[in-house]
Amino acid sequence: MILALSASGCGRGEEPDLINGKALFIGKGTCGACHVLSRAGTKGNRGPDLDQAFGPARNVGLGEKTVAGVVQEQIALVRRNSTMPKDLVTGEDARDVAAYVAQVAGQPGKDQGALANAGAPKVSNKPIVAKAGSLKIDADPTGALAFASRKASAGAGAVVFESANKSAVPHNIAVKDSGGKLLGEGPDVKGGASSKFSATLAAGKYTFVCTVPGHEEGGMKGELTVK
Ligand code: HEC
Repeated sequence: MILALSASGCGRGEEPDLINGKALFIGKGTCGACHVLSRAGTKGNRGPDLDQAFGPARNVGLGEKTVAGVVQEQIALVRRNSTMPKDLVTGEDARDVAAYVAQVAGQPGKDQGALANAGAPKVSNKPIVAKAGSLKIDADPTGALAFASRKASAGAGAVVFESANKSAVPHNIAVKDSGGKLLGEGPDVKGGASSKFSATLAAGKYTFVCTVPGHEEGGMKGELTVK
């Protein structure tokens, strides 16, 4: 049976899994927290823009395999003192991430089919409602640039904001008025800690955001209605 299976497998295990690669790039792997890659929708700015790094090479005909090799090498052989953590992903996962980056870097358009939704954070549209003046809006546990919901509501007066962050990517929670003015902000936290602050808010529309550079722009924000 095992023989028959491997004989009919025709080395399909050699093909990288792009869906896994994209999910890791966006989520757990957190590559996207530091790198722009437009097809993946990531806007991190602590490392080089990967569309710019590899798009031109792809366009002059450097093959996907060559680019994938460069990316995979970077993951495993990060230079000393780099802020990019070494071996964030390993083995087949590293191969999958590298193959995904190589396929999409600098390419126009959008990912299609199953790849389109790979790794999308689970964000609810159901508003989170403050209880006894306390509003708990957690960060996405995988490190994606998202809060648990895009909407929240609270009663006018003192509101305590609290956002637990289980991921390794630093996040905070902050509130802005409808003109974009920052009204309050909790500390940057990671690894299970909570970012917390309180603000006194009158009835109206606000946004809650993560003010770590690039995160609000990357989608880490939502609407807060105070009644
Ligand atoms: C904490 C931030 C951070 C994370 C997370 C991160 N990188 Fe990087 N990356 C960097 C920085 C900074 C550089 C610049 C070169 C260096 O420091 O080695 C870089 C360089 C690169 C390069 C080389 C780009 C070039 O211009 O040659 C590639 C490719 C790359 N990263 C891919 C990845 C992938 C894939 C992941 C996820 C597995 C990842 N990075 C995760 C910060 C990060």
